[in-house]
Amino acid sequence: MQILRNIGTLALCRPDGGQGDAQLIHNAALVWNGDRITWAGPADEMPANLGTAVMFDARGGLVVPGLVDCHTHLAFGGWRADEFEQRCRGASYEQIASGGGGIMSTVRATRSADETFLVNRARGFLDSMVRLGVTTVECKSGYGLTLQDELRLLRAYHALAENGPCRIVPTLLGAHMVPPEFQNNRAGYIELLVNELIPAVAAERLARFCDVFLDASAFSADEARTILRAGAAAGLRPKLHADQLSDMGGGQLAAELAAVSADHLEHISDAGIKAMSSAGVVAVSLPIASLYLRQPPMPARRLMDAGVPVAVATDFNPGSAPSYHMPFAMTLACTMQMMTPAEVLKGATIIAAKAVGMDGEVGSLEAGKRADFLLIDADDVNQWLYHLQANACRWTVTGGRTTWKAR
Ligand code: NIG
Ligand code: FE
Repeated sequence: MQILRNIGTLALCRPDGGQGDAQLIHNAALVWNGDRITWAGPADEMPANLGTAVMFDARGGLVVPGLVDCHTHLAFGGWRADEFEQRCRGASYEQIASGGGGIMSTVRATRSADETFLVNRARGFLDSMVRLGVTTVECKSGYGLTLQDELRLLRAYHALAENGPCRIVPTLLGAHMVPPEFQNNRAGYIELLVNELIPAVAAERLARFCDVFLDASAFSADEARTILRAGAAAGLRPKLHADQLSDMGGGQLAAELAAVSADHLEHISDAGIKAMSSAGVVAVSLPIASLYLRQPPMPARRLMDAGVPVAVATDFNPGSAPSYHMPFAMTLACTMQMMTPAEVLKGATIIAAKAVGMDGEVGSLEAGKRADFLLIDADDVNQWLYHLQANACRWTVTGGRTTWKAR
């Protein structure tokens, strides 16, 4: 039994109460046993008969659930700093991609990278993320785009899930782009996805979700429907990169397919918002990508007002979002999207957990859930996300285990 006392503010982040209600408790305590939380609440209501317990002192700090980064492209070869410079000079993401750069440039670098190198590099990213307070990371494939190269990325995530510093949720994104080998045979690539890659991934249980990049430069709505239906039939729940660069009807398609989430949504229409709201699809906001690609931010306020839960994630990848800094993404969600710090905190914990089907296990501080929590050097949530320190996270606990502690 372990007890964290003297908590200045404890944010429970239970699913109930609306996105803005993070259930803040002042002068609180948190109790856990092994990898599970056993009690969380006001210190003066803590049960007296807890038996022998190891005590920790939060010194008046903020305690929140471990952050869930529910959208990353974690394993890739190379970087694209040259494209960053081109975009700073005014080139658009689409112009760079149509010249053979963009995603295809990372596909080339990833295909030629050694497997151990990919795993070790991704593990290094995860180590840094854990120090920032991340305890669960969704990881997409999508830089292989052949049967073998996609499987290699997903197997790398499995190796990291087994001996990495945090929880991993793998997603198949074989439909990130049509690779050059199939440029004149799009149907052939879709057949490869449907008849070979999806069955192989399902047979080896290498992914929980199937994602598609719905975009003029990637896959159409009809193609996405075919791929996501095949994924769902094989047990991989649908996710969608939707309406990032233009309105492609992504919100409506996500709703039609009962996708667990639709991500990006910078250009979602009113009809798309309405459809998502009726179907209970989570909107995943990726403000680092909006910032780097100079896109208008996702209309998070309008989505929340329509009853759509909004998660916040990094989209970490070498092109549109070259940062795994969750607290930075969270502060951007406040400043660019007019979300309150409390709404953002729920978006980065319980709602993000829902976006990866893990809300029964992680994302809130409640008896029975995993003991994934952070001690933050701030007296409340507003102060934390307002003053973006180098790193406000003093202690990361994942399943009852210390995965980072500041000196
Ligand atoms: O989420 N939009 C598509 N995929 C990524 C970008 C990947 C890349 O540029 O390498 C995204 O923004
Ligand atoms: Fe993405």
